Amino acid sequence: PYRATFARPTMLGSSLRLDRNGEPYRLFEVTEKASTATIVPGLSTPVYSYDGKVPGPVIKVQQGERVKLRVRNDLPALHPQFGHPFNTSTHLHGSASLPQFDGYANDVTHPGDFKEYWYPNWQPARTLWYHDHNVMTTAQNAYSGLAAQYHLTDAAEQALLPQGHFDVPITVNDAMFAADGSLAYNDNSHSGLWGDVILVNGKPWPTMKVKPAIYRFRVLNASIARSFRFRLSNGAPMHMVATDGGLMPRTQSVVEYKHAGAERYEFLVDFRSYAPGTLINLTNLSNANNVDYDHTNKVMRFEVVADSPDNGGDRRIPSIPNLLVSSEAMSLTTAQATNRTSIRLERSDLTNEFRINGRTWLDVEHSDFTSVLSNPQPDEVGLWTIENRSGGWFHPLHIHLVDFKVLTRNGRPSAAWEQGPKDVVYIGENETVQLLMKFTLNKGGGTTGGNAGGRYMIHCHNLPHEDHDMMQQFAVGNAAV
Ligand code: C2O
Ligand code: CU
Repeated sequence: PYRATFARPTMLGSSLRLDRNGEPYRLFEVTEKASTATIVPGLSTPVYSYDGKVPGPVIKVQQGERVKLRVRNDLPALHPQFGHPFNTSTHLHGSASLPQFDGYANDVTHPGDFKEYWYPNWQPARTLWYHDHNVMTTAQNAYSGLAAQYHLTDAAEQALLPQGHFDVPITVNDAMFAADGSLAYNDNSHSGLWGDVILVNGKPWPTMKVKPAIYRFRVLNASIARSFRFRLSNGAPMHMVATDGGLMPRTQSVVEYKHAGAERYEFLVDFRSYAPGTLINLTNLSNANNVDYDHTNKVMRFEVVADSPDNGGDRRIPSIPNLLVSSEAMSLTTAQATNRTSIRLERSDLTNEFRINGRTWLDVEHSDFTSVLSNPQPDEVGLWTIENRSGGWFHPLHIHLVDFKVLTRNGRPSAAWEQGPKDVVYIGENETVQLLMKFTLNKGGGTTGGNAGGRYMIHCHNLPHEDHDMMQQFAVGNAAV
C-alpha cells in the first residue's frame, strides 16, 4: 500500500453549440468502450468505461448552463466476462433531470447506438456522478468502470470553498482481481461484491503530495457494495462542508464518519501546521455487515511537501468557514409535509431477493410500470419513514429527483455529517430513518422545457441488491408522463 501515485481524473472537454432556436448549449460527448488499464502494477485489466478511463472523465458545469451529454455505446454486444447483453442507461446521480433523461433502468441504449441527455443544472452546486443504470446489470456495469464525477458549480460554492489544485475529486471503490489481472466478480447470494483492493481514482492505495494548505476533498464512494468509516490516522478533523445535494448550512467537524455507496461527502483538511515530510493516512475503520480483508482498513496516504506557487485557477481559503449556505431541503419542516410514505426494506430467505414493501422491480415491470410506491404532487412535501427489516444488511437507499433532509435516525437526531442535503441515506441493520423532501420539478430557465412530472426510481445503492431486486418507483404528478 501507498506506493502508487495519486492521480486526478481527467476532465471532459465540451463544445458550444446552438440549438434550432439559435440558443447556445454546451455539448459533452463520451463513448462507452472496452479498453485496458494498469491498475495493479504489472497486470493489464480489461475495463469497460467512459472514454476508456477509470474512473471516467469529470464533467464540470456552471449553474444555469444548458448541457447536453451524448453517450455512445461502443461496447461489445455481450459483456466479455459476465456474458449479459451490454446495454446501458446513463443516470446523472444528484440531478433533478426530466424523467426521459434520468437513466431509467429500462430505457436502454444498445451497443452501436447512442442517446442524448439534457441536464437542467438549476440546482445548487454539488458533486454529482454519472454511472450506468442498466436494468439487472447495474452492478456489473458500474464495477467494470462505468462511473465518473460531475461537478456543478455556483457563486456561493466558489466564494466559500477551495478551487483548482485545492479542490480534489476522490472516487473510492473496492475491487478484486483474478490472477490474469481481470476484475473478479463473485456474488452468489446477491449480497454484494467485497473487494480486497481499495482503489482511489483507479489506483490502489495511492499517495498524494499536498502543500501546507486547506484542501477540499470531494469523496464519492463508487463501490458497488462496501461502506467505509473514514478516519485520518492522526485523528485530525475532517471539516464536512457538503453532502450529496451540496453545501451544508454549517460546517460539521468530525474525526470519523460513515460513507456508503453513492454518497458524496465533501470535507476540508487543514495541512498548514504539518512539516514537509509528514505522512497522514486516510483509513477505513469499517462498519457492520461489510466483509473486510487485510488491507481494506487502508485507503490512501497524504504526504505534506514544501509549499510552491499556485496556478491561475487555484484558490486557497484562509480559514475553515463555519457558516455555509442553507438549501430548500434543509429548510423543510415536518409541519409542511402532506405526503406520508412508509417504506420497509426486506429480504426473502427463500429467493435471496431484496424487496421494498414486499415488491420487486420485476413486479413493477409486470404492472406495465403502473405500480408506484407513492404519488406526490409537484412541490408537495413528503415525510418518508424507511425501516430496514431485512436482517443482517445495511442499505444505502437512493431516491431519484429529490434532495432530502435526514430528520431522525432511530428516533434520534441524525449524525453530524448528515446535516446537509442528501439523496442517499445509510440505513443500518434494523435502523429506521425519517426523511423530509420536496418534490421540486425542473424550474426551467429555458433549459429543457418544463417538467410535467413522471416516474422516478427509488432503490438500494448496494448495486447487487438493486439488481436483485430492491428497486421501485414513485411518480410525481401525472404518472403516465
Ligand atoms: Cu446512483 Cu438510481 O442511482
Ligand atoms: Cu441494499
